[in-house]
Amino acid sequence: VERELKILVLEDSAEDYEIELRELRKAGLRFVSRRVETMGEFEREMAAYGPDLILCDHQLPTTDGHEAIRAAREKCPETPLLIVSGSLGEDQAVECIKRGAVDYIVKGRFASLGVRVRRALEEAQARAERHKLEEQYRHAQKMEAIGRLAGGIAHDLNNVLTAILGYSQLWLAKLPPDDPNRNDVVEIEKAGQRAASLTRRLLAFSRKQVLSPRVINLNAVVRDVERLLRRVIGEDVELVTTLEPSLWNVKADPAQVEQVIMNLAVNARDAMPRGGRLTIGTNNMAPDVTLWVSDTGTGIAPEIKTHLFEPFFTTKGLGRGTGLGLSTVYGIVTQSGGRIAVQSEQGKGTTFRIYLPRVLERAEPLPQATPRPGPAEGRETILLVEDDDVIRALAASVLRAHGYTVLAAPDGIEGARAGAEHKGKIDLLITDLVMPRMDGRTLARELTARRPGLKVLLMSGYSAEENPGDEAAAALRKPFTPRELLARAREVLDGTA
Ligand SMILES: Nc1ncnc2c1ncn2[C@@H]1O[C@H](COP(=O)(O)OP(=O)(O)OP(=O)(O)O)[C@@H](O)[C@H]1O
Ligand SMILES: [Mg+2]
Repeated sequence: VERELKILVLEDSAEDYEIELRELRKAGLRFVSRRVETMGEFEREMAAYGPDLILCDHQLPTTDGHEAIRAAREKCPETPLLIVSGSLGEDQAVECIKRGAVDYIVKGRFASLGVRVRRALEEAQARAERHKLEEQYRHAQKMEAIGRLAGGIAHDLNNVLTAILGYSQLWLAKLPPDDPNRNDVVEIEKAGQRAASLTRRLLAFSRKQVLSPRVINLNAVVRDVERLLRRVIGEDVELVTTLEPSLWNVKADPAQVEQVIMNLAVNARDAMPRGGRLTIGTNNMAPDVTLWVSDTGTGIAPEIKTHLFEPFFTTKGLGRGTGLGLSTVYGIVTQSGGRIAVQSEQGKGTTFRIYLPRVLERAEPLPQATPRPGPAEGRETILLVEDDDVIRALAASVLRAHGYTVLAAPDGIEGARAGAEHKGKIDLLITDLVMPRMDGRTLARELTARRPGLKVLLMSGYSAEENPGDEAAAALRKPFTPRELLARAREVLDGTA
């Protein structure tokens, strides 16, 4: 339904005002209007009335058109203003247009008023739409640039952190429990873990995570996190779920969707310091499935909304928020082919709504996260190919210290040669994905062709191009700890990965 227009008319003649209204009605416009006579009233009504269109007499007893145009451009820059005048010379008319009026009409030739008002309104609407598109485009470009920066930093830091974490754990394994230096190494390891968790979230934002997407039902994920959620949000917040019983399936990484729900729920809790209601819901909305998280908290101010998904944007005090929660959510959702929208009213609450494309395949059961305990040692022979010297040396010494025989090579070509020259059995190839000369994937293909039964574990720094998520081969994400390396190697060797 077309909304009624609001027209503000600066005009000292009541008679001319009536004629103008009649012309506009004749042209079929639906509107309400208000007439003002002085600049004071005019300025006040621009703010209070919020007009969609301004008609303005050029010669008033107390002011002229130029003054009115100046005021209108300041107070309502988006609202089209038309000058109406008893007698307006060509020069004066041009001057008015230069100053920002969109058109001028000479009194006595009112017949064209309707057409010209319509045109002015259409142009204003087109302008507003163009602004909105430009704004969206700028925003997308900004997010893209920040994402590249964040991804680049995180990628390089991951190699450094793998070394820091690895060597501190190796050292800890060697130091006797009562060694006075032990605590220092523990602190180094803790700091490394904190940094690793930052880079993980930065990678998530830059959509460079290694995802393991599978066909899932979002209701199952919500039910899975519900218990944990109740503990996280505390007793003052009521948790309600409204799940669509015949919800369609989506393809996404269930662990990441859990992360999304958790981050949104924690934010919702923070927005309701004196309690409230947190609602998590699902819906079918062709062609998408939606998951929404809604709170009755403080709401979000419009000037904050545009920055919400930027990494490190937070309104929480020092040490209370990192500003990575929503950027992680944004990264996960967009990398999964979805999008996210936010709706918020200050003082009333906020709803985040996630749209993921529906898939027609049947859902797989959610994987149970139960890490296998026990010694992750072995006697097998492993070919380790990695171009980063520090990581290669670290991984080799960790594996050797746990019983394995390790052949190490700095790139794919050397790795292929080592594989060809070795006389005995090779049980497992552990290789980096991106390397100079020959990448890990090619190497794995060549070696498995020649040595059937050779198992493969791919190490991946990041990036969707090297995302091993969809492949048959198992993956190990950097930065990894010696424990993770040993556990993964054992799983792949045992065929339980
Ligand atoms: N449900 C909400 N209600 C009100 N404000 C919100 C809500 N969710 C997010 N915000 C605002 O968005 C900002 C960014 O959220 P984000 O989750 O990215 O970072 P954070 O919560 O401040 O820190 P972190 O999640 O890293 O601990 C918050 O600081 C807050 O101002
Ligand atoms: Mg947060």
